[in-house]
This record gives sequence, structure tokens and C-alpha cells, in this order.
Amino acid sequence: MLQDTIKNTKIMIAPSILSADFAIMGDEVKDLEKCGADLIHVDVMDGVFVPNITFGIKMVNDISKHTSLPLDTHLMIVEPWKYIEKFAQAGSSFITVHHEACGSRLKDTVKAISSLGVKSGLVINPATPVSEVADVIEYCDIVLLMSVNPGFGGQKFIPEVYSKLAQTSKIISEMQKDILLEIDGGINFETCPIAKQNGANVIVAGNTVFSAENRADAIKKLREI
Ligand code: DX5
Ligand code: ZN
Repeated sequence: MLQDTIKNTKIMIAPSILSADFAIMGDEVKDLEKCGADLIHVDVMDGVFVPNITFGIKMVNDISKHTSLPLDTHLMIVEPWKYIEKFAQAGSSFITVHHEACGSRLKDTVKAISSLGVKSGLVINPATPVSEVADVIEYCDIVLLMSVNPGFGGQKFIPEVYSKLAQTSKIISEMQKDILLEIDGGINFETCPIAKQNGANVIVAGNTVFSAENRADAIKKLREI
């Protein structure tokens, strides 16, 4: 079913629950599903890899009972390979890990995620060149480019990342593989269309969806704009 969603949907909108009310998370994810989200983006932060702490495996497991949408788990943690099996068992459909956290273990970690039957991906920070991970992209189902420094919602999109999107999109199309290209951070109605023009097809949006008066309208607008 996830495969069909990916094939049939040109642009996927993944609201980030970092901007949700954590005290009513079940209701929040149900609402995002009702409002037309394609994925739920789940930002896991450990206070070490990034200067903020959110939640972990139990949150993924608990929210998976409140939605049938695929959970897109973005691990901003050190030594992520220690936890991928637990995040897979908790109900993640995608698990992405940072190159900056994995170092020389990136390829093995991406492959290990795939072997768990979960869509697998790498993430790079705004300052990291794509060339550093070029040899790992072919093992990924998804490549996530950060367009803010990870840690907090509501930051400004770093415009240098547009050209990195175009560069990554070119690498992916030359591989002739169905690898998704995700953008995360500072997405709003101005930055979203430019990100799409440069090849992004999975759009993470925290603040823009959660601060909207009408979340369904905001999700639709991000998809169609
Ligand atoms: C930042 C997170 C993002 C964040 C995006 O570290 O990875 O997913 O929630 O938030 P906005 O869309 O508000 O920039
Ligand atoms: Zn994220």
C-alpha cells in the first residue's frame, strides 16, 4: 500500500509533529490524517546530536495506533544504528539517519534499515555537500536535505539548499531509481514552490501547517502551489 501511495502521488506532504501539542498527540495525528497529510514526519531528537530533546520509540509506537498514515521517522540522534530495529518495530514506514551522526557507518546503517523491511534514507545538514554521500544514495529509498540546521521548528529556509536539491535530483534521475527527495525546514508558501521546482517531492512542514487557521487548506496549498 505504501508503495502505491509513493507511485501514485507526485508530491507528498509530511507535516512535522514537532509543532504539534505533545499533550494531545493522538488527536493531532488523527487531525493531520483527516486534513489530507500523506505522511507524518516524526522528529526524534536526543539533546546530543542536536541541542533539543523531543521523544523516542514509545511515541512512534503510540501514535501508530492513532493513524494509518506512514510514519516518517527522522532520527537526529547519535549512534542511530543502535535504535533502528526498535524504531522499525514501533511502526516506522521510513527511517532516515544523518550522515553527520553515522560517519563511516552510513552505508551499513542505511542497508540495515532496509533489511528491517522499512524504507531507508540518509539526511544531510545544510552545510554538508551532497558529494560526501554520493556513493550511498543508490542504497536509499529517500534522501532528505535539511534546509535549516536541525533542532527546532519555525526557522528560515537556507536558500543555498535550492541548488543542492537540483544537484541531488540530477544524481537521482541519472540513477534511474525511484528514490524520493525530501526537504525539511523553513517550508512555507514561498519556499515550497521553489523547492519543488528544484526537485523536492516530499515536503516536510511543521510551523506552516500547525500555525495555519485551516490545516487542510494549508496542506492542499503546499501540495498544489
Ligand atoms: C528540524 C526538524 C524539522 C522541523 C521543521 O530539526 O527536522 O522537521 O520540524 O519545522 P518547520 O517546518 O517549522 O521549519
Ligand atoms: Zn525533520
